[in-house]
Amino acid sequence: MATSASPSPVATIHSCAKTVCVTGAGGYIGSWVVKLLLERGYTVRGTARDPEDPKNRHLKSLDGAGERLTICRADVLDYASLQLAISGCGGVFHTASPVANDPGLVAAAVDGTRNVMNAAAEAGVRRVVFTSSFGAVHMDPNRSSDTVVDESCWSDPDYCKKTNVLSLSLSLSLCAVPGSFHSSGPCGCRQNWYCYGKMSAELVASEVAREKGLELVVVVPSVTVGQMLQPALTASVYHVLRYVCATKTAYPNEVQSYVGVKDVAMAHLLVYENPSARGRYLCLSCVLHRAEVVELLAEICPMYPVTTRCQDESSARKKPYKFSNQRLKDLGLRFTPIKQSLREMVISAKANGHLLPPSSYRPSPL
Ligand SMILES: NC(=O)c1ccc[n+]([C@@H]2O[C@H](COP(=O)([O-])OP(=O)(O)OC[C@H]3O[C@@H](n4cnc5c(N)ncnc54)[C@H](OP(=O)(O)O)[C@@H]3O)[C@@H](O)[C@H]2O)c1
Repeated sequence: MATSASPSPVATIHSCAKTVCVTGAGGYIGSWVVKLLLERGYTVRGTARDPEDPKNRHLKSLDGAGERLTICRADVLDYASLQLAISGCGGVFHTASPVANDPGLVAAAVDGTRNVMNAAAEAGVRRVVFTSSFGAVHMDPNRSSDTVVDESCWSDPDYCKKTNVLSLSLSLSLCAVPGSFHSSGPCGCRQNWYCYGKMSAELVASEVAREKGLELVVVVPSVTVGQMLQPALTASVYHVLRYVCATKTAYPNEVQSYVGVKDVAMAHLLVYENPSARGRYLCLSCVLHRAEVVELLAEICPMYPVTTRCQDESSARKKPYKFSNQRLKDLGLRFTPIKQSLREMVISAKANGHLLPPSSYRPSPL
């Protein structure tokens, strides 16, 4: 595996913490967290709203799953289901959250997190690792261009409510020709409810941790790319793959931060296992202009009609911001080159039928 960090054996943490719960176990990031935990010898209780849904089937074939993985039926909005899943666990990885730009889903992010934190406290869990989002960090219009974005940065909630940076509510299908997609979500909203929800959820997690004396460590990933273990297409992978087949016919004049999914999962393990880990850990490996992303994709997929046109060719190219991922590096994480993660993402998307053969897509109009 490309992600590297000095493994700390399970024995370094309190013995009861060898059994851990991962909420959203069948999701993109959740599946990788489960995989790495099993590889490190943990006994894992994963949660899914419907364990029998074929989208969770891949979990059963992970190494060690037969002996040490149980999937519990739990909805983060159903406290009793969480109590059952978390009881007897020494640690909780809370990855479950709707990844969509829909105001109706903010409650699942925020109330769901409160429920998970309370259930963890009630069960005597030692440490909770919460998966936040870079959306809780960078959405601040007043941040100066010289600022080094790090763990001290927070998004402005009012700004989140007024803007729409990532259209995550699009129909997640690439098996269609360019031009057949809508450019706004089903609710037609322009607000960034996803960032607002993640930021609010992170604040709630911190508040409950303080009140209940729970150890909380927060991983803050940026747009996550890399191999999908799960069969279903997830929002961040879709966000990038639509340039491969040019279903997004032009890219914006914008910069974005990216990270590999294996690195994100490894970050969760490192902050869990390191006794002195506290607070937030920014998990991003690079900031790229979208022009650089499509260049990398064109190198990786020369047969595909990768998007080449910028939506805004008259303005100067937006510049990347500075950032620090030093806290995770200090814990031993060595970030995977993003081109490698993008390549692995494309291969897994093809294998899962999310990318048709190149001839199925029309070239991007110039
Ligand atoms: N991918 C990214 O670029 C990225 C970046 C930063 C942060 N994150 C965060 O990482 C986490 C995982 O995201 P992902 O990309 O892996 O998304 P994903 O593949 O869509 O997985 C989301 C998971 O959340 C679960 N979920 C959603 N609503 C739920 C509810 N009401 N009750 C229980 N489970 C629920 C889903 O489980 P079921 O539907 O099976 O129940 C699913 O397993 C999220 O917290 C997200 O905000 C993702």
